[in-house]
Amino acid sequence: MPGNHAVAYKGPGTVEIVQIDYPSFELRDGPGVNPANVGRKLPHGAIVKTLATNICGSDQHMVRGRTTAPVGLVLGHEITGEVVEVGPDVEFVAVGDIVSVPFNISCGRCRHCKAGKTGLCLNVNPDRPGSAYGYVDMGGWVGGQAEYVLVPYADWNALIFPDHDQALEKILDLAMLSDIFPTGFHGAVSAGVTVGSTVYIAGAGPVGLAAAASAQLLGAAVVIVGDLNQDRLAQARSFGCATVDVGAGRVEDQLEQLLGVPEVDAAVDAVGFEARSHGGGAQAAEAPAAVLNSLMNVTEAGGAIGIPGLYVTGDPGAVDDAAKVGALSLSLGTGWAKSLSFTTGQCPVMKYNRPLMQAILHERVQIARAVNATAIALSDAPRGYAEFDAGAATKYVLDPSGLLTD
Ligand SMILES: NC(=O)c1ccc[n+]([C@@H]2O[C@H](COP(=O)([O-])OP(=O)(O)OC[C@H]3O[C@@H](n4cnc5c(N)ncnc54)[C@H](O)[C@@H]3O)[C@@H](O)[C@H]2O)c1
Ligand SMILES: [Zn+2]
Ligand SMILES: [Zn+2]
Repeated sequence: MPGNHAVAYKGPGTVEIVQIDYPSFELRDGPGVNPANVGRKLPHGAIVKTLATNICGSDQHMVRGRTTAPVGLVLGHEITGEVVEVGPDVEFVAVGDIVSVPFNISCGRCRHCKAGKTGLCLNVNPDRPGSAYGYVDMGGWVGGQAEYVLVPYADWNALIFPDHDQALEKILDLAMLSDIFPTGFHGAVSAGVTVGSTVYIAGAGPVGLAAAASAQLLGAAVVIVGDLNQDRLAQARSFGCATVDVGAGRVEDQLEQLLGVPEVDAAVDAVGFEARSHGGGAQAAEAPAAVLNSLMNVTEAGGAIGIPGLYVTGDPGAVDDAAKVGALSLSLGTGWAKSLSFTTGQCPVMKYNRPLMQAILHERVQIARAVNATAIALSDAPRGYAEFDAGAATKYVLDPSGLLTD
């Protein structure tokens, strides 16, 4: 049986490569595993040899010590790989298939899954609806920043790429289907982006850049991306976005200079609860409601705000006691007066991953280029985490099998 090296959270600011068990068709106890999930039988699962597994801003929230993630948690929810073994209840996924794995784990059998709400599956997380690999409070499914990972309900969850060789050729683009491309697309769709829209996207991290590429794909007239990180703003400009430096002042003033009006048709929050205040330069203080309040100001009355950016119910490092339990100071009166709509929560990846795969395979979009996807060895994960945390304009793709970096 092969060994299984993986990336584990070892306390604020630290990740390490550890040796974990090769997956089995049963969920065993371990750091973060919900007691009610221990011993759960997984005959419907497939073991995937990981070919690409990306570091995400969602991982950073945990690694910065901004969640209640336990030390030892095996990280990783953005998984692309080759099926090497299937459980006795798997009918259609086969050994040798190259697959994208949605970061949401879902059963395909509950009423939410049947309604397409795979980010809210009722059967995978004993604590609350919704689950993911390698994530705090998500049931305790072992993370995929590892050489091998168990994918439950494989027939339902795995998106099989149609051609093996083509999949390997485009693997850096296809690796974005497990999370950020569908997530960015969902942000844009839920903000109502359509042909001719003017769009403001807060955040030029990988999710914001994926939302920007998605808005372009949806036919937006102009896509404006805001951040206080100059390298990331330059990355947004590299594929045709306009940019706003939120460190330099109010977003509405800068939008007015670009558009002639201080408002947009649609807005996306690709930042989340670790937002920085506006006008405070590159080192601005944290202000968790800054983006939400700003988006309510800049979205045209009757418009919609897509909120893929993560907000939590427990943040030990929050700026004040209210924010420690996820209570933010929102100007909801502004949102109400303008009849704005909000869409929050996990992206239901499965709703979008197949059509976005087709857009990649038929070269309608260059998502890896937009987010500057860069492969590094699994053993380099600590460096990848550190550089990403420092604001590199890079989407790091870990390469446990050596396919991408050798
Ligand atoms: N809903 C989902 O399903 C889902 C999926 C993936 C990621 N996420 C979340 O999306 C968010 C973005 O992910 P990412 O990987 O791009 O993270 P990231 O941390 O790399 O990017 C966030 C960016 O926001 C910028 N920022 C901070 N304050 C700002 C402000 N006031 N205005 C504009 N930009 C500001 C930061 O400088 C940074 O570049 C995270 O909260 C992540 O957890 C959600
Ligand atoms: Zn992610
Ligand atoms: Zn379900």
